[in-house]
This record gives sequence, C-alpha cells and structure tokens, in this order.
Amino acid sequence: MLSKNVRDLLNAQVNAEFYSAYLYLDFSNFYKDEGLDGYSNWYMIQAQEERDHAMLFIQYLQQNGEAVVLEAIDKPDKELKNFIDPLNFGAEHERHVTDLINNIYAAAYEEKDFRTMQFLDWFVKEQAEEEDNADDNIKKFELFGSDSKGLYMLDSEMQSRVYTAPSLTLD
Ligand code: FEO
Repeated sequence: MLSKNVRDLLNAQVNAEFYSAYLYLDFSNFYKDEGLDGYSNWYMIQAQEERDHAMLFIQYLQQNGEAVVLEAIDKPDKELKNFIDPLNFGAEHERHVTDLINNIYAAAYEEKDFRTMQFLDWFVKEQAEEEDNADDNIKKFELFGSDSKGLYMLDSEMQSRVYTAPSLTLD
C-alpha cells in the first residue's frame, strides 16, 4: 500500500508528464510551422517519450492497487518568438520535472517506501539524460544555429532521431 502523500504525488506526476507531452507537441508544431522539420521531429518524439512516462506512472499506481485520477492538462503557454526559445524553455522545464521527481523520491524515502524509490530510480537517471540532451541542444544551436548552413545541418541531425520505447517496463 502506498501512503496517501506518495500516492497523490505519483498521481500528480501523471498530469505533469502529460503536460510535458503537450508542451513538447506545441514546440514540435512551432518548428513545423517554421519549416524546421528536424526540430519538429525531435520534439514530436520527445512528446511520445513524455506520454510513455505518464503511462508508467499510471501502471505503477495500478500495480499498487490505486485508482488513477486524471485531471485537466494545462494549455502550453510559452510564447515562442525565435528558434532558440523552445530549447531554452525545454531545458528549464526538464529541471522543473527533475525537482518534481526528487520531491516524490524524498516523500517515499520519508515513508520508507523502498518499492517506490526503486521505481523512481529509473526516472532519476532519465532526468539526468533529459537535462543533458536539453543543454546539448542549446549549446549546439548557439554554436552553429546562427547561419542558414549551420541551421540546415542541425535540423538534419534532429531529423535523424527515432522513437524508442522506454527501457523500463512494468509487468
Ligand atoms: Fe518525463 Fe522529460 O521528463
């Protein structure tokens, strides 16, 4: 059995992950409209990954006999004015998600809920990767994105990203 606090935080994380998917879908649409199909692809795949994260939290709650409550997902409200805006907002958002995961981890630790801590271990690692990728995107854009040739090269690289299912599976 999960404690009420841990259960509520896990349930809130379902919404947070779906919001992340929504936010990244908005970024993907922005780049599509601007003709940067590679960046659009990268964020489309990122949105799929976030949906996977939400599903993992749902599965974990259900595995523990908890009912899942789906709340309304907020409208993405970032104002995107240039090509680097989504990259900066994305990095900032991932740091926020890391804080959320750490917060659930701390609550589980408090309750000696080792099972939830073990489940969250995958997300702790995943967040390190997500932050790295987001910072990397900014760095590359700052280095090469200011002229059209460099931007074309970066967009082609972003186009090569393919979706892979999460390495964490719950039976
Ligand atoms: Fe689900 Fe990008 O964190």
